Amino acid sequence: MRCSLSLVLAAGAGIAVAAPSAHESRESHLRTRNIIDGTSIADSYDFVIVGGGLAGLVLGARLSEDANHTVLVLEAGGDGDEFRERIDTPAYAYYESLWPTDLNWAFTTTPQPNANNSQCPWPRGKVLGGSSAINGMYLNRPGEIEVNAWQDMLGDMDGAENWSWDSMFAAMKKSETFSPPVDASIQQEAAITFNPASHGNQGPIHMSYPGFTMPLVGAWSSTANNAGVGDTQDPYGGDNWGAYVATSAINPANWTRSYSRSGYLDPLPPRSNYDVVANAQVTRILFNNTSGGNLTAHEVEYVLNGGGAKLTVGVNKEVILAAGTVGSPTVLLYSGVGPKDVLDAAGVDVVSELPGVGQHLQDHISVTVTWSTDAETAGTIYDNNGTEKNDPAFLSYVNSATAYANSSVLFGNGVSGLQSSILGEIDQYIPDTSSDTGVISGYKTIYSTTANTILTSPIGLIELVIGLSTDGAIQIGANLQHPFSHGQISINSSDPLDYPVINPNYLNHPADVEILREGVKLARRLGETEPLASSMTKETWPGSDVQTDQEWEDWLRGEVFTEFHPSSTCAMLPLEQGGVVDANLRVYGLSNVRVADASVPPMSFSAHLMSSTYGLAEQASTIIRDFYNQPATSTKHHNSTTNSTTSNNNRTSSNGNGTAILNTTNVPPTINASTSTPSANSNGATSLGCWPLSSTVALLCLAIKFLL
Ligand SMILES: Cc1cc2nc3c(=O)[nH]c(=O)nc-3n(C[C@H](O)[C@H](O)[C@H](O)COP(=O)(O)OP(=O)(O)OC[C@H]3O[C@@H](n4cnc5c(N)ncnc54)[C@H](O)[C@@H]3O)c2cc1C
Ligand SMILES: *[C@@H]1O[C@H](CO)[C@@H](O)[C@H](O)[C@H]1NC(C)=O
Ligand SMILES: *[C@@H]1O[C@H](CO)[C@@H](O)[C@H](O)[C@H]1NC(C)=O
Ligand SMILES: *[C@@H]1O[C@H](CO)[C@@H](O)[C@H](O)[C@H]1NC(C)=O
Ligand SMILES: *[C@@H]1O[C@H](CO)[C@@H](O)[C@H](O)[C@H]1NC(C)=O
Ligand SMILES: *[C@@H]1O[C@H](CO)[C@@H](O)[C@H](O)[C@H]1NC(C)=O
Ligand SMILES: *[C@@H]1O[C@H](CO)[C@@H](O)[C@H](O)[C@H]1NC(C)=O
Ligand SMILES: *[C@@H]1O[C@H](CO)[C@@H](O)[C@H](O)[C@H]1NC(C)=O
Ligand SMILES: *[C@@H]1O[C@H](CO)[C@@H](O)[C@H](O)[C@H]1NC(C)=O
Ligand SMILES: *[C@@H]1O[C@H](CO)[C@@H](O)[C@H](O)[C@H]1NC(C)=O
Ligand SMILES: *[C@@H]1O[C@H](CO)[C@@H](O)[C@H](O)[C@H]1NC(C)=O
Ligand SMILES: *[C@@H]1O[C@H](CO)[C@@H](O)[C@H](O)[C@H]1NC(C)=O
Ligand SMILES: *[C@@H]1O[C@H](CO)[C@@H](O)[C@H](O)[C@H]1NC(C)=O
Repeated sequence: MRCSLSLVLAAGAGIAVAAPSAHESRESHLRTRNIIDGTSIADSYDFVIVGGGLAGLVLGARLSEDANHTVLVLEAGGDGDEFRERIDTPAYAYYESLWPTDLNWAFTTTPQPNANNSQCPWPRGKVLGGSSAINGMYLNRPGEIEVNAWQDMLGDMDGAENWSWDSMFAAMKKSETFSPPVDASIQQEAAITFNPASHGNQGPIHMSYPGFTMPLVGAWSSTANNAGVGDTQDPYGGDNWGAYVATSAINPANWTRSYSRSGYLDPLPPRSNYDVVANAQVTRILFNNTSGGNLTAHEVEYVLNGGGAKLTVGVNKEVILAAGTVGSPTVLLYSGVGPKDVLDAAGVDVVSELPGVGQHLQDHISVTVTWSTDAETAGTIYDNNGTEKNDPAFLSYVNSATAYANSSVLFGNGVSGLQSSILGEIDQYIPDTSSDTGVISGYKTIYSTTANTILTSPIGLIELVIGLSTDGAIQIGANLQHPFSHGQISINSSDPLDYPVINPNYLNHPADVEILREGVKLARRLGETEPLASSMTKETWPGSDVQTDQEWEDWLRGEVFTEFHPSSTCAMLPLEQGGVVDANLRVYGLSNVRVADASVPPMSFSAHLMSSTYGLAEQASTIIRDFYNQPATSTKHHNSTTNSTTSNNNRTSSNGNGTAILNTTNVPPTINASTSTPSANSNGATSLGCWPLSSTVALLCLAIKFLL
């Protein structure tokens, strides 16, 4: 099915495409978006948000809705404007990846002993919008069982009720505007089903379907059903298992990527109480030393443009870390908040000992079976310069067919054996990242919750995805969703500009090897099942040499790759379990620092992580606003040891009077052209394709052809 832009617009009646106004200066573009130059930062703000990524821009927009708060976002990466077209065009995530650019932190892991000693690339977005600006746009949800399991791990902690499925479901919906497929023929050809009641319809992030599809997409769900993976009618309402075509974070009005910048920053009118600064990397949080009680952050230290003098900005109320699963623990560690052994070894003075920082790291890992094909894929059209190649509807195609296979699909009745060996051997496979009894107890809690609550439930242990962006090839990936191998983010330097040390401990736990092995066998089975099978010419990787369980295990150790979903390094857990934040997102031992990003949920989810992270950031914003807007006598809040922070009900903000506010409880899904004129830059789309670069980059590019 191919759809021209004009047809699509006609079908999406009433949705206007913004027409850039010719005479708007760059400066007014920036001010429109509340982006200011780094030299214009005020002396202090009520809230200083570290990281302008997915979560950071949600927090910035929501907290600055209260005109009585001043809000600053500091983002290490640039504004991305020189790469505008490559960010905005969905299919370019595959064909013109931003990986080889400065918009990617380009971390690598330590050598992974159980994965052939590979040092795996770990891309993360470094730009306004963060990873939501460079990712693959799959937009789906965790399940009710998983989110409630998270809440259960909190026990009777104050605020635990805010992390139930019901709360998170509402918060996720608040971030979204759902649109059905623009055209009935796309819906039919791709066999898309949906239940509008399970989606939001007033939020800033568009969740929709590409304007182009292929019969191969339509073959997916019935193939998965025929291979024993159940069908699903409503994966967004809490039952997140089975086979379905997921929504994508795409704005169907003009086939552009919908991400935290386009949703939560660009549409805002100027707000005198809100400043966003790009190219500002936070190096440390500085605290007032108090005797006893919690420490209070009074300044945030940062550098502009990657180096030079250390500058500081004052904190009137709170610091909110939204630097992501890698960045948030890293900033805490460089600030002296973390495990003593890590800080001592790195030469960083211990300011507040907190053993859980950087622990409990979990990541989805992925392996792939590849077939050759004569069928037309999106990659066929793109690589052969088909007539649609530059059609925006065609260029909105991203892979999105998914299937979540649970333990009974993978193991039949055999799962009880796996469960008892996991539970029986818990001590044996606790990672050696910490000798702290609290942290170890947290590992055990996560293992036993996963083994008792997830493993035997309908929740998918393996996600299957199909890749159709390569000419002449079809890939099916098997992605581990609830890893039992946990790792750590640490530092080995006292220079905050040095990269952290990332050790995910891939395949450290034998259960992961077993589950992934069954997952990849299922991926092969799908390729051998009709209706998909008739489009496969030959399995080209790993091919017929790999047959026995032992052969699969040997093979997959050389193949594992991140699915880009690391989480849990600032885990919300009780302090006695190595938690980093409490249920109000406050860092233990600090009176006015919270974390609100993908590092917070203590357990990996069976889903891509955008939706849960948008929901978490929405929820965090409401919790923080409620805290400051309630009468100061509320008993449910702890009181801090100094007066520089909480309960400041002074209406006069230090940085303007907040006259211009948008009521974003009801952000219109479409954006008024007069306030929103992206500075599209034609230079951005040239150069830097994948293939002319080094072989390492070429390999990465091959991997992302469908992994995203
Ligand atoms: C290549 C790739 C593909 C992915 N595909 C998908 C997908 O298809 N679907 C999906 O749902 N999810 C996907 N994800 C995952 C998803 O994008 C992330 O889970 C999500 O963006 C996490 O949000 P976050 O706010 O925690 O972190 P991010 O969005 O990564 O934001 C963190 C921000 O903090 C900034 N920062 C870090 N350190 C500092 C510092 N010291 N000072 C100032 N700023 C700092 C970073 O530059 C970044 O902008 C993908 C991720 C990647 C990298
Ligand atoms: C701050 O503004 C919000 C709404 O904008 C309002 O509900 C709240 O009462 C205000 N708080 C104070 C202390 O004035
Ligand atoms: C958090 O939980 C409390 C108590 O149940 C409730 O009053 C409050 O509205 C919740 N906040 C959010 C943001 O859900
Ligand atoms: C915190 O310490 C700084 C510098 O040491 C000082 O200027 C500031 O007044 C202190 N704030 C409080 C609330 O004690
Ligand atoms: C310190 O903060 C925690 C929350 O993080 C709170 O429970 C505790 O009461 C605070 N202690 C003091 C002395 O304020
Ligand atoms: C498609 O066009 C590009 C240049 O735009 C060219 O490099 C490439 O060889 C063409 N491919 C085919 C198959 O014609
Ligand atoms: C393991 O790594 C070595 C050295 O990098 C490489 O030669 C070998 O092919 C790898 N094995 C597998 C199974 O990938
Ligand atoms: C604040 O803390 C002090 C000392 O811990 C306590 O006496 C007081 O009751 C608390 N106030 C509130 C409003 O909780
Ligand atoms: C905090 O403020 C209250 C009232 O404004 C005052 O009585 C108290 O002494 C202050 N405490 C500190 C530690 O400054
Ligand atoms: C409120 O803040 C303003 C500006 O920072 C200050 O001038 C004023 O004295 C404050 N009012 C109170 C009651 O603290
Ligand atoms: C508030 O700010 C706006 C715009 O920044 C300005 O026009 C207005 O005069 C200010 N009002 C007051 C009372 O300061
Ligand atoms: C903001 O919009 C919501 C939803 O339409 C509405 O309920 C609320 O009253 C509005 N708030 C203001 C301050 O206009
Ligand atoms: C796409 O449309 C939205 C309105 O729905 C607009 O805000 C945005 O600027 C447009 N993007 C581009 C690149 O034209």
